[in-house]
Amino acid sequence: MSKQTILVTGGLGFIGSHTVVELLHASYDVVVVDNLNNSRMQVLESIRRTSGKEIDFYPYDTRDEKAMKEVFEKHPNIAGVIHFAAYKAVGESVAEPLKYYDNNIYGLVALLKQMQINGIKAMLFSSSCTVYGQPEKLPISEQTPLKPAESPYGNTKKMGEEIVVDATKTGAFKAISLRYFNPVGAHPDGFIGELPIGVPQNLIPFVTQTAAGLRKELSVFGNDYPTPDGTAIRDYIHVVDLAHVHVKAMARLLNNEGPSYDVYNVGTGRGYSVLEVIEAFERVSGQALPYHFAPRRAGDVVQVYADANKAEQELQWKAQYGIDDMLRDAWNFQKNILDETHILNEKES
Ligand code: NAD
Ligand code: WQD
Repeated sequence: MSKQTILVTGGLGFIGSHTVVELLHASYDVVVVDNLNNSRMQVLESIRRTSGKEIDFYPYDTRDEKAMKEVFEKHPNIAGVIHFAAYKAVGESVAEPLKYYDNNIYGLVALLKQMQINGIKAMLFSSSCTVYGQPEKLPISEQTPLKPAESPYGNTKKMGEEIVVDATKTGAFKAISLRYFNPVGAHPDGFIGELPIGVPQNLIPFVTQTAAGLRKELSVFGNDYPTPDGTAIRDYIHVVDLAHVHVKAMARLLNNEGPSYDVYNVGTGRGYSVLEVIEAFERVSGQALPYHFAPRRAGDVVQVYADANKAEQELQWKAQYGIDDMLRDAWNFQKNILDETHILNEKES
């Protein structure tokens, strides 16, 4: 049987690049469309280095109908689509809501239309634990009621899921929404990881950049939460574990198992406070992290962690990496980027 081909939109981004590597390891052929809005061309080379394999890459925008038509025509054997391409900065989405609806909603609808035209039968949609807000009960299962979105970004994930559900009702294709908790870390080989452009908004990149001396001090947002140490709790999930669940979920769809639409939480089931993350970072890196307490960040929830049993039972997937692995790999990647920058600077001088 010939290899199956998967189209990955946003495949040079943080989660996309790790997923591409795992798809290649699982012997799929991979086509990536990424407009490089939040990624760099060097990721393509890093994917080659990590996987030892080649992919087909198109620097196109998923909203560009003509360009996407060309991709599907060049690759008539595409069996499934994994849709990562979206904007993801919560604060920016409040300031520029239409930018978010245009990319995350129009981009999704445009892709679904192309899938329909080309008879694609399987799709994975990147959703987020943000759709649950702060639930009454923990852990959060897939049955936990959804809350009104706190931001336009969160709303695009909620609406995105609804659009995908409706589109599957025609029977044209099957889809799974994966609700990621807090994706962090980097590939253990140290060549691919999270490359935030500008000042990081998320905790782990801020921690590693502070330890690397690029930022002066970490602000811990809030130490008066109703949690054991007063800081907020999240379910951090290693990006390689997250990449694996995409391979499992895609296989389920391609094998025509399960209902036409389904949803899975993707987390470890264990929450860590910000102070616990700092302690773990100091343990694995062997260095002290400068931090101070600052006021709570607007819009932050107190505590979330997943009930990830559904993914374990139905996808035979369970997180393998713990918090120390996540921080060790994020830190190794951070050090590698600095080394590379250093080498580049040396070459230039
Ligand atoms: P990322 O920004 O690193 O990756 C997204 C990629 O998509 C980038 O490479 C960007 O250049 C590309 N892109 C954006 N719009 C595009 C378009 N119109 N056409 C083509 N390419 C486009 O983000 P990520 O962290 O890898 O997130 C991937 C997906 O997972 C997103 O949909 C995000 O909303 C979702 N998600 C992320 C997190 C998280 O914390 N990282 C959590 C939950 C859900
Ligand atoms: C984690 C914890 C902060 C930075 C965001 C999105 C969510 C999802 C994942 C996409 C919180 C604290 C952070 C800092 C800190 N993305 N913190 N100092 O907010 O849980 O989720 O990313 O779908 O939608 O909102 O992740 O990494 O920003 O924060 O103290 O400099 O670290 O207050 O408690 P968050 P995060």
